[in-house]
Amino acid sequence: MPFLTSMASSVQSFSETRLRDHLAGRLAAHRALEWFGAGGTVIARAPDGAPVWPCGFSGSISHVDALGFALVVRGDCHVGVDMERVARVKLVPVSMFACPAEIENCGDGAWAKASIFSIKEAMFKAVAGLLRQGFDPFRFRLLDAEPLPRARLRTRSLVETPSGEVALHGEAVVRDGMVFSVAWRSSRDWSARRRRHAGRAS
Ligand SMILES: CC(C)(COP(=O)(O)OP(=O)(O)OC[C@H]1O[C@@H](n2cnc3c(N)ncnc32)[C@H](O)[C@@H]1OP(=O)(O)O)[C@@H](O)C(=O)NCCC(=O)NCCS
Repeated sequence: MPFLTSMASSVQSFSETRLRDHLAGRLAAHRALEWFGAGGTVIARAPDGAPVWPCGFSGSISHVDALGFALVVRGDCHVGVDMERVARVKLVPVSMFACPAEIENCGDGAWAKASIFSIKEAMFKAVAGLLRQGFDPFRFRLLDAEPLPRARLRTRSLVETPSGEVALHGEAVVRDGMVFSVAWRSSRDWSARRRRHAGRAS
C-alpha cells in the first residue's frame, strides 16, 4: 500500500502497538476516501497529531485495539469521531470528564457514561484546530441530552473558541461493548436561539 511507506517518517517513534492502531485508523480513512474515488492519497500527521486530509476533504479518525473508525466528508467541515470500549471508560472516574448536571441529563449507566466520554472526545477532534490547546472535557458541556432507544444518545454543546462560540452536535451509539461517536459543527445558529430563551427565562 503506497500510503504506508509515505507516512513512515511521522511514526518512527511509535511502539508496535501504537503503530498497529495508527495503521488501523489510516486504513479505515483510506477505505472512506476510496469511496469518493480518492483512495491512495496520503493522510499526513499535523504537529498536533490531527490528520491532514487531501485537498477537498475533511474527516476524523479513531482506533482501539487494532480496530479503526474514520469519517471522511467532502469540503472544509468540522467533524470528529471517537470509538471506545465501554469497559475501559468504566474505569475512569466520571468526575474527571462530566459534571453532575450532564450526568443527570444523560443518565449514569455504563453506556451513558461511555457515551458522554466518547462524544466529548469526538467534539474535541471536530474543533481542535480552533481551540489550539489540548483536550479538556469540561470545555464541552453537554446540553439538551436526548437518550434514544437502543443505547443511543444525542446531544449538543456550545464551545468557546478564540474566534467565538461554536455550536456542535454529537451522537453516540453503544453496540457489543463499544461506543461509537460522531460530532459535527452545527450549520444552524441555535446558540443565538438558546440565548434568547435564557434571556426570557431570567
Ligand atoms: C485527540 C485525543 C482526544 C485522542 O483521543 P484517544 O481516545 O486517545 O484516541 P483515538 O483513537 O480516539 O484518536 C486518535 C486519533 O485522533 C486523531 N487526532 C489526534 N490529535 C488530534 C487533533 N488535535 N485534532 C483532531 N484529531 C486528532 C489522530 O488521527 C489520532 O490517530 P493517529 O495519532 O494514529 O493519527 C487526544 O488528543 C487526547 O487528548 N486524549 C486524551 C484522552 C483522555 O485523556 N481522556 C480523558 C478524559 S477524562
